[in-house]
Amino acid sequence: MLEGKNVNLRIIEKEDLPLFAEWFNKPEVLGEYNPVHQGSRTDAEKMLETPNELKPFIIEMKDGSKIGFIAHFCVLHVANKQLEIGYSLVPSARGKGCCTEAVKILVDYLFLSKDIGRIQAQTDPGNVASQKVLEKAGFKKEGILRKTFFTRGEWRDAYIYSILREEWKEPRILTKTA
Ligand SMILES: CC(C)(COP(=O)(O)OP(=O)(O)OC[C@H]1O[C@@H](n2cnc3c(N)ncnc32)[C@H](O)[C@@H]1OP(=O)(O)O)[C@@H](O)C(=O)NCCC(=O)NCCS
Repeated sequence: MLEGKNVNLRIIEKEDLPLFAEWFNKPEVLGEYNPVHQGSRTDAEKMLETPNELKPFIIEMKDGSKIGFIAHFCVLHVANKQLEIGYSLVPSARGKGCCTEAVKILVDYLFLSKDIGRIQAQTDPGNVASQKVLEKAGFKKEGILRKTFFTRGEWRDAYIYSILREEWKEPRILTKTA
């Protein structure tokens, strides 16, 4: 368990799968900018087959209520020493700083536990909330990936953001001994 002030990150477990599959099929959870997606519970179960170091985290409030997920994955190839992150919260949990805290915790965890030099994220240019999250968590906008993902019948641009190890410098929420 990665513990923050208002939220904790917990690696996904088998009992989370029904809710996770529900979230993944609900446009209101994925929001208006993520690719439209339909996945079965069996697809969600495959998540448990990924190595522990790449499993998604459930974002929980301190009372244990599950408010969303945050995931990290390899960019192009595992040997590239960089990771990409993605996240979604249920609508009722948004606008309270929870995602920003979850991103800061994950960034701390990834730089503390892995020999990576960079963490990146992509977001639709219209997704101002996600851009604010990344900027508040210390990411910098690098530029635009043109027509990089297909959703809702069209190819869309994405802003690419990153944080480098030397910009991170020190953990913001986790401690080196946690
Ligand atoms: C993006 C998302 C994860 C943000 O989560 P969150 O917990 O609400 O984020 P935070 O509260 O930490 O910060 C959001 C910031 O954006 C602002 N914001 C929210 N909606 C906004 C909008 N439509 N326009 C401008 N700013 C907006 C909030 O006011 C807040 O800024 P502030 O701290 O300066 O007040 C959430 O909106 C979500 O789950 N969206 C659907 C899925 C998604 O888009 N995922 C990201 C894909 S890249």
